[in-house]
Amino acid sequence: MGGSINVVTVIGAGAMGHGIAQVAAMAGYRVNVVDVSEDVLEKALERIRWSLGKLMEKGRIKQEDVASTLSRLKLTTSIEEACKEADLVIEAVFEDVEVKRNALRKADAAAKDAKVIGTNTSSIPINELASFVSRPERFLGLHFFNPPQMMQLVEIIRGEKTSDEALKAAQDFVRTLGKTQVLVKRDVPGFIVNRILSRIFEVACYLVQKQKYSILQLDSATKYRAGFPMGVFELADFVGLDVAYNVTKVISQRDKRFRDVQLLREHVERGEYGVKSGKGFYDYSKGGRPEIPADLGRDVDLTYVLVPALNEAARLMEEGYASSDDVDIAMKLGTNLPKGIFGYAAELTVDKVRQVLSELEPDLGEGYRPVPYLLKLLSKGPVTDKEYQEIAVKREPPIGWIVLNRPHRLNTITPRMTEELEDAVEKLSADREIRVLVITGEGGRAFSAGADITAFSEILGMENKVQAAYRFSWRFTEVLLKLERCPKPVIAAIDGFALGGGMEIALACDFRLASDRSELGQPEIRLGLIPGAGGTQRLTRLLGPSKAKLVIYFGDRIKAKDAEALGMVDKVLPSERFIESVREFASRLAEMPPIGLEHAKAAINAALDVPIEKGLLIESALFGQLFATKDLAEGVSAFFSKRKPEFKGE
Ligand code: NAI
Repeated sequence: MGGSINVVTVIGAGAMGHGIAQVAAMAGYRVNVVDVSEDVLEKALERIRWSLGKLMEKGRIKQEDVASTLSRLKLTTSIEEACKEADLVIEAVFEDVEVKRNALRKADAAAKDAKVIGTNTSSIPINELASFVSRPERFLGLHFFNPPQMMQLVEIIRGEKTSDEALKAAQDFVRTLGKTQVLVKRDVPGFIVNRILSRIFEVACYLVQKQKYSILQLDSATKYRAGFPMGVFELADFVGLDVAYNVTKVISQRDKRFRDVQLLREHVERGEYGVKSGKGFYDYSKGGRPEIPADLGRDVDLTYVLVPALNEAARLMEEGYASSDDVDIAMKLGTNLPKGIFGYAAELTVDKVRQVLSELEPDLGEGYRPVPYLLKLLSKGPVTDKEYQEIAVKREPPIGWIVLNRPHRLNTITPRMTEELEDAVEKLSADREIRVLVITGEGGRAFSAGADITAFSEILGMENKVQAAYRFSWRFTEVLLKLERCPKPVIAAIDGFALGGGMEIALACDFRLASDRSELGQPEIRLGLIPGAGGTQRLTRLLGPSKAKLVIYFGDRIKAKDAEALGMVDKVLPSERFIESVREFASRLAEMPPIGLEHAKAAINAALDVPIEKGLLIESALFGQLFATKDLAEGVSAFFSKRKPEFKGE
């Protein structure tokens, strides 16, 4: 649990409140839930029970977790009662200023010792709501996404008067929930996700009204060509047109750079709310999802939708509301845009951006003036301030860290990640200041949960699937061969899942250090597959055939301790100080003579492949070669003078 926070109070037990309460109780907090009637509370509890049941069915939690989570929840109809012991309060009542004023006033008076009072509002400015509490320094936005049990993102919004302490307490709290947070550094209508999404709805509706494109054309283009999880209009129907309209309305009332979205308003006025009312942009009276032909959007110029969204994203950075990383993470996790938002800039030019925006600005207003930051980024080439997108490299000589960096997808492996990994291994291998490589995963939940399965479904849809799958497997294998042959020691630092392809990366490393909460395995068989990047070969060499068969035939997730007993893991380390322990291990290795290590690695790896006489010959040859190194002279002289040797790798 998060530092000094033990008791959490959630006000409002509706769609969001019940989910937030559940997530907090699952993380170990005592949670008070308050709503206006016993009836509503009973329904909320039913929803929580249902959701916990589902999580248990999927094996994500155990029977005893269900019972303990439920035992930490307390339901009441009295705000005073619910708040009096609270360390942190989250308000999730109706999206209505008056209702929120009333709830926040009472909560503020009752929650005397709370360090944080947060609101889950999706559109009302935090500074406006802060005026309803007596101590605005402990007030901020804690914006969860629907459904909170499943959605990984929380936007934390700092109000004008929010103190550093309250912000830190809220950030620590969200971390303990296992969620990914982004920081909105200053209040801005719509925050990140809803603001950019509103821009997309605004321009898409405009293009339809101007009859530039039809709804189906735009949905087909955004879904099949831009890779949105659904078409834009389909998405609006799923969100609820009333909800979507309300967000755009609240933003446009407070920010003159946004317009009232007429097409959304008209649907709402006709009572067409999307999926929930049976009709929106599409008809849902017979259930199912709209049929959107894949080729209908072929001729749509997608830049008309994407440029305004990118411009808005650039504004958030230019005006200091959020960092570019946070904007991208928010769009990936909040709307499931696979590339985030800046990924779409790769093929744009300054001229194209200017042309599209100058066409839209006369009708849609100043929000469509190009933001200088976007033009600046585009003129420098693709919009990314980093060398890599799916990994990160941290030089901390003598240690070089490679971080698998798709935390929103448990660091699953894509072709791009494989290429970036190869590049990073090459660069760090050649980097003279780096003596040891450590590979690890971002996000605190996984080293890597395997290949991104969407790649498999794509391949299944291909005509030449056998050849495509072979290439996919062989390319990954080539990169892992390179990793295995890296002249420096490589450590896989596993904190969380190392499954499938993730396990195979770890197998190509010299050592596997795992935190005690990690789970490892080769679950491919459960999909009807076998490991495809060395699992059958390296695991067999490591464990022997019968243990490798146990791991691969059953495809179980194996706990770190058991994996250690099998030999898949070299050391299990306590998760609380995992990275420190890995760093200590790596630092000790880094004190060893680099050329000696390189030769030892080559000789040991050869032992697995060649007959013993040849292996012994290799050993002797490499042994001999070391007599040409200065490190050997240093080692021998230090030995005789009883001091610690200083190896230079020469
Ligand atoms: P909801 O209508 O499902 O639930 C609101 C709950 O608050 C109701 O159960 C209501 O009885 C209760 N309530 C109203 N006044 C109250 C009071 N004075 N004291 C205690 N309880 C009271 O609404 P929903 O969707 O859960 O939204 C809640 C908040 O979360 C809103 O601010 C909304 O903008 C925001 N939000 C909603 C999302 C969504 O997709 N539904 C996503 C993210 C944020």
